Order: sequence, then structure tokens, then C-alpha cells
Amino acid sequence: MRLVRCNLEEHGSAILRILNDAILTSTALYDYAPRPLSSMTSWFEEKRAGAFPVWGALGDDDALLGFASYGVFRVRPAYKYTVEHSVYVDAAARGRGVGTRLMERLIQSAIEQEKHVLVGGVDAGNVASVKLHEALGFEAAGIIKQAGFKFGRWLDLAFYQLILPTPHAPADG
Ligand SMILES: CC(C)(COP(=O)(O)OP(=O)(O)OC[C@H]1O[C@@H](n2cnc3c(N)ncnc32)[C@H](O)[C@@H]1OP(=O)(O)O)[C@@H](O)C(=O)NCCC(=O)NCCS
Repeated sequence: MRLVRCNLEEHGSAILRILNDAILTSTALYDYAPRPLSSMTSWFEEKRAGAFPVWGALGDDDALLGFASYGVFRVRPAYKYTVEHSVYVDAAARGRGVGTRLMERLIQSAIEQEKHVLVGGVDAGNVASVKLHEALGFEAAGIIKQAGFKFGRWLDLAFYQLILPTPHAPADG
């Protein structure tokens, strides 16, 4: 497996396929409907505008096994050192360390970009994601009970956070 920076042209449709599979089969995403391919254009544009990394894991045949990225946590400027991340692994490639590798690289990017807090919003019933975050040192930071409704039931959203040693000189403004 090797990690690469993702772009729309090479990886947009593979990222979308992984996202849409998670939308249709799980509560990892609080979407009901699969997204159109056109949504990937604005997705990558938001990443570019914020200089947010998109890391992909490629298998031996160069197929995308998974990806991880982060983006704006909340829009007010004083949240500037906090980002909210996401990580998705193709169903056929789970449980082999891909998610861990992607998250380790993403955390390194956050440190390089002088971020301070990584936040993950995890469906409380998502055992694999909870384990992944705990294994990486994330701490439980609270649960919004019944924050979502999907597949005919209420969903609790658990936040996990990792505090980084950066930035070296945090400043207002
Ligand atoms: C959550 C997800 C990204 C984990 O990626 P992965 O490549 O399968 O995870 P890894 O193989 O790196 O394993 C990470 C940890 O989770 C544990 N884990 C993975 N799958 C698990 C499962 N189904 N049940 C229990 N634990 C599991 C592993 O044991 C490992 O813990 P350890 O280091 O203490 O042994 C992946 O399952 C996925 O894409 N799920 C669907 C989308 C999703 O939920 N994304 C996260 C949204 S917040």
C-alpha cells in the first residue's frame, strides 16, 4: 500500500464510490441519498480553498483503498486551529490497517499545518471507527444524543478529539 495526495481527475470517482457505498449501507454518513459525481468538484474545491490535504491509500493495482481528509470545523475565525476530519476505507479493504495508516498521515499533515485540534464526528454505534480513533489516541469529547435520524431510528453522534502540540505561536486574528 502507498499513500498519495488525491485529486479530482484521478481519484474523484473512486472517492465517490466509497462515500456512496457508506451512505447506502451504513450510518457513517448522515446522508440519505448517494451523491452525484458533480459533487466531487465542489468537494475538491473546498479542500483546495482551505489548503486541506486529501490523502489516499492505493493498493498494488493502484486502486483506491481509502482516503482521509479534513476541513472546516466551524466557520467562526477563532476556530482556525481546529479541523474536522473524515476517513473512509473501501469495504473490501477494511481491518488491514489502511484506516490507521491514513489517519497517521493526516495527523502528520495537521501538525505540519500548525493545527491544534482534530475532531471526528462518529456515529456512536460505529464500533470500527470508535476503535480506530481510540487506538490513535483520540479522546471522547461528548455525545449529541439523537442528532440524526436514518434507517428509521435516532442516531447518537459522538465527538472524538486529538490535541496536537502545534501551533508553536498561536495568535488571535
Ligand atoms: C472506520 C474505518 C475507517 C476503519 O478503517 P480500517 O482500515 O478498517 O481500520 P484498521 O484496520 O486500521 O483498524 C483500526 C482499529 O479499528 C479496529 N477495527 C477495525 N474494524 C473493526 C471492526 N469492524 N470491529 C471492531 N474493531 C475494528 C482494529 O482492530 C484497529 O484497532 P487496534 O489498532 O486496536 O487493533 C473503516 O472501517 C471504514 O471505512 N468504515 C466505514 C466508514 C466509516 O465509518 N468512516 C469513519 C467515519 S467517522
